[in-house]
Amino acid sequence: MTVTPDTAPDIYSPDSYASGAPHALLAELRRTSPVFWQDMPGTATSKAGGYWAVLRHEDVEYVSQHPEIFSAERGGIVLEDLDEDRLDALRGTLLAMDPPRHRAYRKPLVKSFTARVVGGMEGRIREICREIFARIPDGDVEFVHDVTSSLPTQVIGELMGLPPEDWDHIHRLAERTNSQQDPEVAGNDGYGPGDASREMAMYAVRFAMRRRQELDGAEEPPEDLTTLILESEFGGKLMTDLDFGSFFMQLVTAGNDTTKTMLSGGLHALLTHPDQLAALRADPSLIPGAVEEILRWANPLHYFRRTATRDVELRGVRIKEGDKVAVYYTSANRDEDVFADPQAFDITRKPNPHLSFGFAEHFCLGVHIARLEGRVFFEELLATFPHIELTGEPKRLRSNLNNSLTQLPVRLMRN
Ligand code: HEM
Repeated sequence: MTVTPDTAPDIYSPDSYASGAPHALLAELRRTSPVFWQDMPGTATSKAGGYWAVLRHEDVEYVSQHPEIFSAERGGIVLEDLDEDRLDALRGTLLAMDPPRHRAYRKPLVKSFTARVVGGMEGRIREICREIFARIPDGDVEFVHDVTSSLPTQVIGELMGLPPEDWDHIHRLAERTNSQQDPEVAGNDGYGPGDASREMAMYAVRFAMRRRQELDGAEEPPEDLTTLILESEFGGKLMTDLDFGSFFMQLVTAGNDTTKTMLSGGLHALLTHPDQLAALRADPSLIPGAVEEILRWANPLHYFRRTATRDVELRGVRIKEGDKVAVYYTSANRDEDVFADPQAFDITRKPNPHLSFGFAEHFCLGVHIARLEGRVFFEELLATFPHIELTGEPKRLRSNLNNSLTQLPVRLMRN
């Protein structure tokens, strides 16, 4: 694809993602303009109204490794400007903290997310998958809602110790928080994404208050992440209930939609590549590699944003202090310098250094949970349903950030 003045490239508009990420355009830009200035609507030529898109694998790693130059805290991690209230709430989450505060908040949590601790959840995750599939009769289902949405909600609900009767409500709030560019998902009831995140934070504040009362003098406190967070010191202080609200919001939203997207995007990738699905059915030991390829090829998040803290040059481009900079995982994952035949979906790809979980400082804390959910889900799905077929066109979320399907009609058969 040639980029000419008549076909001004637009990798910002959510409409450019209507039928999937604009991979041909991204490949062309990686070649011709790997640190690319993208205007945002409303301010056609002013640099204040746009951002630098970082498209090559090596550069995405570089930006992610240098939080002192590329701050997550200064302007947050999405391209749209947030009002001070929402930005302040976001700065209470790991994703939008810079060092040294970021390290002080992340350190106490790391021990709950190691591969060893998470490995202990395998039996329970398998049980949840089996329960979900047992409820599904043979026949036609809408895979996104009927199948994938329950797993991440239950896993996070159990991790945090939330009452099961609240899981659906929390899931819906998380979905709304992440779907602001799609009116069909966000709804037209005047209830915006800001309202959903506020409501979730308020739920968390009430939950923290109740849990503190339970912990007060309890002989056997619940052993979950909520207890750990409420009893740990972050930067030398205990969290207030309000701090907990922001933190909770992050854990719930970070681990929910992304995982759901991996599962539904993954099944879609397999169904549209029947040779790969057949190979997987023939040899289930390929499943862990298939999950990595799903994460690379159908990565749940297209980008995250940083803000330059000083003037800096990247690939010969002058980035000014205060400029927005977006690292594009979607582009880095198909970088020709790193991946052979990068547009191909190949479940045996090795090595597979995709950047779907980010890199360095903010590398996904839930990576082992996500990988475990992915592996166990596909093991159980393929074992339960020997016959799976697409029965219609999938529908995508209108978003330049979340690479999600909102509908995936399939037929699941036990024989
Ligand atoms: C397929 C599923 C998932 C994907 C694709 C994903 C992706 C990401 C990405 C791209 C980042 C930011 C990296 C950066 O800024 O460099 C991140 C951070 C994070 N993720 Fe995940 N994630 C997933 C699942 C989860 C789960 C299941 C949890 C928790 C239960 C989780 C918790 C977090 C947290 C807490 C952070 C912030 C880490 C920090 O800033 O230090 N994620 N994730």
